[in-house]
Amino acid sequence: MAFLTEEDRRYTTPEDICAHVGDEYAKFMGAIVPPIFQNSLFVRPNGGNGLPADLSYSYTRSANPTIEVAERKIAALEGADGALCFSSGMGAISSAILHFVRANCHIVLVDTAYACTLGFVKEYLHGRFNMEYTLVNGGSVEEISAAIRPDTRLIYLESPSSLVFRMQDLEAIAALARAKGIGTVIDNSYATPLYQQPLRHGIDIVCHTASKYLGGHSDIVAGVLAARREIIESIQNYERAWLGSSMDPHQASLLTRGLRTLTVRVPQHAANAEKVAAWLEACPKIRQVFYPGSKTYAQNELFHKYMKRATGLLSFVPAGTREDAMRFAARLHCFQNGCSWGGFESLCLPLGGDEASRAAGRPDNLVRMYVGLENVDTLIADIEQAAGILPDA
Ligand SMILES: Cc1ncc(COP(=O)(O)O)c(C=O)c1O
Repeated sequence: MAFLTEEDRRYTTPEDICAHVGDEYAKFMGAIVPPIFQNSLFVRPNGGNGLPADLSYSYTRSANPTIEVAERKIAALEGADGALCFSSGMGAISSAILHFVRANCHIVLVDTAYACTLGFVKEYLHGRFNMEYTLVNGGSVEEISAAIRPDTRLIYLESPSSLVFRMQDLEAIAALARAKGIGTVIDNSYATPLYQQPLRHGIDIVCHTASKYLGGHSDIVAGVLAARREIIESIQNYERAWLGSSMDPHQASLLTRGLRTLTVRVPQHAANAEKVAAWLEACPKIRQVFYPGSKTYAQNELFHKYMKRATGLLSFVPAGTREDAMRFAARLHCFQNGCSWGGFESLCLPLGGDEASRAAGRPDNLVRMYVGLENVDTLIADIEQAAGILPDA
């Protein structure tokens, strides 16, 4: 658990936060890269071992100096009092949800949330622990208001949400929830704190899969949440301490390394993806493009209210059948077929055609594309040659 110090609060721009917050040169003997404290145990001051009496570390599941560097950077980026790192995004998300729920309560969640988040609520909390839930599209505050019951304890948001990038009106939903004593959690992985800061709009907890942009190199699975002090203290003492999905110090060091270049990488992904989205929108073989901020994005008002820019992930519906979409993806050279995103490499994943997709109203031949850091002209040429096999829309 790490909270921002007075010194940390001196840094206010994302660039300065990524470069300096939490890097305590005096504490780390001048090391420009904080050392990896790869130890489980910290011994206590005993009078004879020379340790200062106020030393607070005891065991890495609770706190570790290497992990705290990443936590302080993320807290500062999100405008939070503090942050907590987890061994995966799902570790952070499940802990945030468990912080608010109680036996037999009711949860409102967006129907296009990440599949494992939906699974956790539907199959685990509902299936095993009798909690009730209502799925909402999330596009209208009235719909969310109507879904709230006297026993609702949590509204779970993901904005923009997975695969079709639907947005929610954060400020209005947070105000509604607060007036009724309901907690709010958001998955902010798509936007990153560079382009959307939900805590500033009244949301209680922000979660990230740090396996994506925050890590940025496809070499860690990690998670983080950021919130105000009392929430961080409670999750540190209950969900993270008892369920135990703490981060490993080595993983934290890689996360901090990734954060150093966040403000350079994410705008480059965004610039590349904006060009790819524009090309796809003009292509006669593509029926529909889902990309926040693009000309055809259905919720541009919400986009401009909450986000500075879209990032590297988009999806589209090519002309033809699901088989055509699969053949298109198989012809790509530069885009690899893979289900993650947020690293340096471009990816393409044909989706849909399953029951969950249809239930969420997703088109049968939806293709998700993650635009990496390669030269954008190479990427567009790759898409163009692969699209040659598609019929006209
Ligand atoms: C939007 C979103 N949230 C959460 C997760 C889960 O994160 P992790 O894989 O780090 O547990 C993912 C993973 O793909 C995701 O795409």
